[in-house]
Amino acid sequence: MVNDFDLTNLDFFVSGDPHSLWQELRATDPVHWTERRNKTGFWSITKHADAQRVYRDPTTFSSEGGIALGSNDMSDPNQPQMQFGFGKMMILTDPPRHGRMRQMLNRRFTPRALAPREPHIRAITNQIIDAVAKDGHCDLVVDIAAKLPTAVICEMLGVPREDWDLMFALGNMTLGSEDPEYQVESAQKTRAKAQIEIFNYFMKLIGERRSNPQTDLVSALVQGEIEGDRLTDIEVLFNCFLLILGGQETTRNALTGGMNELMRRPAERERLMSDRSLMTRAIEEILRWTSPITHIMRTARRDVEIRDRNIREGDRVVLWNPSANRDEAVFADPYRFDITRQPNDHIAFGYGEHFCIGANLARLEMRVMIDELLRRMPDMAPAGPVERLRSNLLAGIKHLPITFTAAKAAA
Ligand code: HEM
Repeated sequence: MVNDFDLTNLDFFVSGDPHSLWQELRATDPVHWTERRNKTGFWSITKHADAQRVYRDPTTFSSEGGIALGSNDMSDPNQPQMQFGFGKMMILTDPPRHGRMRQMLNRRFTPRALAPREPHIRAITNQIIDAVAKDGHCDLVVDIAAKLPTAVICEMLGVPREDWDLMFALGNMTLGSEDPEYQVESAQKTRAKAQIEIFNYFMKLIGERRSNPQTDLVSALVQGEIEGDRLTDIEVLFNCFLLILGGQETTRNALTGGMNELMRRPAERERLMSDRSLMTRAIEEILRWTSPITHIMRTARRDVEIRDRNIREGDRVVLWNPSANRDEAVFADPYRFDITRQPNDHIAFGYGEHFCIGANLARLEMRVMIDELLRRMPDMAPAGPVERLRSNLLAGIKHLPITFTAAKAAA
C-alpha cells in the first residue's frame, strides 16, 4: 500500500527512500491521486512517457498556476507572494507569451554563445580549488560545488563579486526555507525575507541598467521587447529572481551528487580519469542519477485522461523527475550508475516548451569542475555523511565533508 503522506513529508526526503516509493507507484499506480487535508490534492506522475507527455503539452497542462507544490501553492494562504509571478516570470508563463519572453534570453545560452566563457569558467574553478587546496579537507558543497554556479550566474547577471556570498545565502533561504539550517523564525518568514531582499537588490540593478545598459542578462531583459512592448520592471524583476535561483540551486547538487557517486565507485572514477572522452556521457548519467529538481507541477486546463485516470480541469499534476529517470521501461538496469550509458534520455532538465534554458551552461560548469577536481584532487574521499536538504522540490545536498592530498591539489 502506497503511503501518500511520504511525498509531502519533507523529512522523508532527508532520511527516507523516495526511490522505493516511486518504484512502487510506477508498478502499481503510475498516475496516483494524493488527497490532502486543508489543501488541494494532486496527481503524481511517475512514468517517463507520462511525464514527457505532460511537459510537452502546455496547452493542456499550464505553468501559470505554479510549478511547485508548496512555495507556489495557491491553496495555501501563507504562500501568496509568488502568485504575482504568474504570467510574468518565464517559468510561470504559458505560450505564446512564454516563447516570446524566452527569446530575449535564448541566444545567451546556446553552446556557441557559452563556448568563449569556458577559459574564464576554468579560471574561476581553479581559484575556488586554490582557496582550499592547502588544507587537505573542506566541505565539497559550500567550499567548492556551490561556488562555481553562483559565480557564473552572478557574472552573467551583472552582480559584482562582493555580493556573491549574499546571493548564495539568499538562494539558500528561498529554496531551502523548509530546512531548519536556513530558517529565520519560520519557513514562511525566511522565504519572504529573502525574496524581499533579492527583489530590492535587483530593483536597484534594473534601475542602473535602464539608464546605462551593459552586456549582461539584466540589460538584455530591460531592453527586450514582446511585440513592441518592453517588459515592465516587475517582469524583469521576476525573471532576475528566476535566473539567480535557477542558476545557483541546481547545478551544485548535480556536481556534489556526481562527485559523491564517483567517490563511492572507485572503478568508475578510475575509468573517467583515464579516459576523459567519457566525460560527456558521464555528465548525462550524473544528471539522470541526481535529478536535481525533484518535481515540477502543472495545472490541468481541461478534463483529460492519462492511463485511464480522469484528470479534471484545475487539478494539479506533479511530475516526479527522479522517478521518470529510473523508469524501467526506458532505462536498462536503471539503478545502476553507468558513466557510459547510451542512450540516456533523462528528463532532469524537463522537456518541451520550458526545457531548462540553462542546460548548456550547467553542462559546461559540470564538465569543467569535474575535470579539474579529478585532476587536482584525484584521491578525494568522503570524511563525513552527506547532509540532505529538507525539500521535495530540490534534491539538495547541504554538506559533504571531504579529504584529499593537499600537495597534489596545490600543485
Ligand atoms: C543541473 C542543473 C539544472 C537542472 C537540473 C535544471 C532543471 C530545470 C528544469 C527541470 C526546468 C523545467 C521547468 C518546467 O518545465 O517548468 C528548468 C527550467 C529553467 N531553468 Fe534550469 N536547471 C539547471 C540549471 C540551470 C541554470 C544553470 C540556469 C541558469 C540560467 C537555469 C535556469 C532555468 C530557467 C530560467 C528555466 C525556465 C525556462 C522556461 O521557463 O522556459 N537552470 N530547469
